[in-house]
Amino acid sequence: MTATHAVEIRDLHKSFGELEVLKGVDFTVDEGQVVCVIGPSGSGKSTLLRCVNLLEQPTRGTVIVGGVELTDPDCDLDAARRGLGMVFQSFNLFPHMTVLQNVMIAQRRVLGRGKAEAERVARENLEKVGVAAKCDDYPSQLSGGQQQRVAIARALAMDPGLMLFDEPTSALDPELVGDVLAVMRALADDGMTMLVVTHEMSFAREVADRVVFMDGGVIVEEGPPEQVIGKPRHARTRSFLSRVLDPGHVEREGQAAPSDEAHGATG
Ligand SMILES: Nc1ncnc2c1ncn2[C@@H]1O[C@H](COP(=O)(O)OP(=O)(O)OP(=O)(O)O)[C@@H](O)[C@H]1O
Ligand SMILES: [Mg+2]
Repeated sequence: MTATHAVEIRDLHKSFGELEVLKGVDFTVDEGQVVCVIGPSGSGKSTLLRCVNLLEQPTRGTVIVGGVELTDPDCDLDAARRGLGMVFQSFNLFPHMTVLQNVMIAQRRVLGRGKAEAERVARENLEKVGVAAKCDDYPSQLSGGQQQRVAIARALAMDPGLMLFDEPTSALDPELVGDVLAVMRALADDGMTMLVVTHEMSFAREVADRVVFMDGGVIVEEGPPEQVIGKPRHARTRSFLSRVLDPGHVEREGQAAPSDEAHGATG
């Protein structure tokens, strides 16, 4: 490999039984870039993200992260995944552990860090995301936004080279979204490489280096946010954006919306 992409996806296909969800996806993320993936519900965004760390086994295609080909059958996946932080819509914190313990556990078990070091790194990252005061609380004592920031701290504590976010704010009450986005924005400013599935168009517009619009398991268009969100070239992109940016908008031309739109947008 001569290219030094942080992520390189080539001809990625994924089927669940008869259902082909990803139909040949190609894209790259460069070191330090933020790429936002947008698109209607059911278009395959989560599946794409899950294929990037091989939580889903692609049916076909190549996934290379940090120069390591994860789709190589000989790849040590556990080792490769250590370099990847993943933040989901639901926070998945351990309810019986304190915030501090939640951020320490994988450092201890997976990276083999000693207690003192794991605690130092945990406190440092909890500070970074603004929830240091909650170290000794249990997740149920925190707001959704605070829990999500703990989940981000937990991922950061593993020193990832790449952070994957799957709609990290869509389960949050509107007033809590801003704090989480602010943390993500700060991470981006720090130079973190990020692949973010989001419905937050203003975040994508302001933070993303590139926006990828997916529909029906393919990338319909991609480019800088001012192009994809500001001046979309494709009718499908325009129709999607008009619905997200103005949910009350009644579709007139875009009646060819994909049938899986019937699931309705989440969040
Ligand atoms: N494990 C699975 N088994 C079977 N079908 C699946 C599985 N995971 C996803 N799918 C199907 O794949 C399609 C794409 O799902 P995916 O979750 O990737 O969409 P998405 O773009 O993330 O949607 P949303 O915006 O609602 O999160 C859907 O039709 C979904 O039902
Ligand atoms: Mg999804």
